[in-house]
Amino acid sequence: MIKVNENYGKLKASYLFSEIARRVSDFQNNNPEANIIKLGIGDVTCPLPDACISAFHEGVDHMGKEDSFRGYGPEQGYGFLREAIAENDFQSRGADISADEIFISDGSKCDSGNIQEIFGADIKVAVSDPVYPVYVDTNVMAGRTGENIDGRYEGLFYLECTKENSFVPAPPSEKVDLIYLCFPNNPTGTTASREELTAWVEYAKENDALILFDAAYVAFITDPQIPHSIFEIPGAREVAIEFRSFSKTAGFTGTRCAYTVIPKDCRGFDEKGDKTLIHPLWNRRHCTKFNGVSYPVQRAAEAIYSPAGKKEVKGLVDFYLENAAIIKKEMETLGYTCTGGINSPYIWIEGGEDSWEFFDLLLNKANVVCTPGSGFGKCGEGYIRISAFNSRENVLEAMKRIKSALK
Ligand code: MLT
Repeated sequence: MIKVNENYGKLKASYLFSEIARRVSDFQNNNPEANIIKLGIGDVTCPLPDACISAFHEGVDHMGKEDSFRGYGPEQGYGFLREAIAENDFQSRGADISADEIFISDGSKCDSGNIQEIFGADIKVAVSDPVYPVYVDTNVMAGRTGENIDGRYEGLFYLECTKENSFVPAPPSEKVDLIYLCFPNNPTGTTASREELTAWVEYAKENDALILFDAAYVAFITDPQIPHSIFEIPGAREVAIEFRSFSKTAGFTGTRCAYTVIPKDCRGFDEKGDKTLIHPLWNRRHCTKFNGVSYPVQRAAEAIYSPAGKKEVKGLVDFYLENAAIIKKEMETLGYTCTGGINSPYIWIEGGEDSWEFFDLLLNKANVVCTPGSGFGKCGEGYIRISAFNSRENVLEAMKRIKSALK
């Protein structure tokens, strides 16, 4: 008898963004004339930077000539990209990360979802609430939780993010083993200060825990005081893994390229309590289950670090941040309390009692898609998230419609 993984039965029927897509598609089918504007899932709309496109083309040309053709690349990624990342994203900010501590992949969603495989089945996992659903669902699939009771999985430790703690959780008084942190945060758009991240690193050291730091939105940080990487915090090399993505930074959501940083001295523990290094475990997993990102895509990603690429990426990020400022200002003018939208492309809006009701209202009355806060967790109830990823024209039109729908 072929038995299935019954942990899947504990999951909600569909993944948050699939559920939203289904509702939007039903609405469109029933209202074919509606011109729907999507400010829901954080999917970029601007084309790739010219510098990336040229490098992409060049990479494809290399694949068409015998002397520059490449077959399987290194699973961990080509040296040219790993070197560029180490130098530009870490060493330039005083974070001691070398190229061989970087694993290139096809997405942070996959990496932050897959990483839990290398940890024990009986560890205590802490996630923030609200939270990017991938962290939770992948641990449910792996059997680290019980049932979902009243919106929360038994066995998970929830770090509540509310307006009372400005949506930044402090380390708990009890012991947890694996901690998912995401800054700039998805969905609340908040950032963590150096002091706040230092407290987490200290906690991880004292409790033999490990931090999974998702920095997919780092390119949107404008405040010079805010750390970009957990590895800017002393001592983090031993207790943290970081995820980065080119998706939101440079428009790679459809092109697919990201990376994970695991310092060589990052440690876990075996059954006997002896230190075990994490880098070789992930390397083993990566080499077994992943065959590398395509060569032209890695060339396109490398171009982000050229002078022209850097300038264009800044232009893209500034453009989306201007959208965010428009959305935030309009919603505040309408009387809503908003968080995020300054160092983040997401605006987290306190919107009333029921998130899905607010979602439906905006869809039905304004034909605008947002993301209901409750989809990210119990503490998200009463909030919605609006994304700044769209054209200026659509953002202005969406805000005009929202204004008239909410008046
Ligand atoms: C989001 O909208 O939260 C993200 O785009 C989802 C993702 O990156 O997987």
